[in-house]
Amino acid sequence: MKKLLLTAGVFTFVLPGCGVQKEANVQEATTDEETRQEETKKQHQVTKKDGVMYVDGHVFANKKVNLPNDYAPGEDPKARAELNRMMQDANTKDGTSLVFCSGFRSYETQTQLYNNYVARDGEAVANKYSAKPGNSEHQTGLAFDVGSANASDDFQMSFVETKEGQWVKAHAHEYGFIIRYPEGKEKVTGYQYEPWHLRYVGKDLAQKIHDQNTTLEEYFNYGM
Ligand code: DAL
Ligand code: ZN
Repeated sequence: MKKLLLTAGVFTFVLPGCGVQKEANVQEATTDEETRQEETKKQHQVTKKDGVMYVDGHVFANKKVNLPNDYAPGEDPKARAELNRMMQDANTKDGTSLVFCSGFRSYETQTQLYNNYVARDGEAVANKYSAKPGNSEHQTGLAFDVGSANASDDFQMSFVETKEGQWVKAHAHEYGFIIRYPEGKEKVTGYQYEPWHLRYVGKDLAQKIHDQNTTLEEYFNYGM
């Protein structure tokens, strides 16, 4: 896993029947997910533009909600500026060596990465740590992976034990970022803990998600 994850930065590459019968079947087809999504629509503003879903104005992508293949906004300037300000504050005021590792990735780059992971680890394992093409937040330009200058714990769970990992966990929300795939929320997000993967949502939402110890899926009621 270590070797595999470290390479991530390098690939910067089915009724017939009468009416009554049909009615009953339709009723059965209503899933928990559909019910949840209806609830979400009542509590949050869900919109779709050019194939991209927004919840309360925030771009939303996860294992169930994908992005169009040709959606390539590049790095979000505001998010990157806040990331830079965060890294500068951490490094100059608190003596960390926080560094940028990875940001925007196109659909094509995510395809190359994902295919390499599947070839190496098999699909079931790869799906625990890598998004399929079209499902990665990195394609939104709002997600960044951070690490430590010495890189020894980058893209590993142990990153959270480092000074940089601890700092990010404690302060990232102050700059509008959330730890997108938190520990203990694997069944909710669909991914293993990634203490290095930050998603920019702005300060208000980041503060709420941090304080509630929750996830975008839970906050928006759009879980796995
Ligand atoms: N590692 C995250 C889930 C991604 O591939 O976008
Ligand atoms: Zn990431």
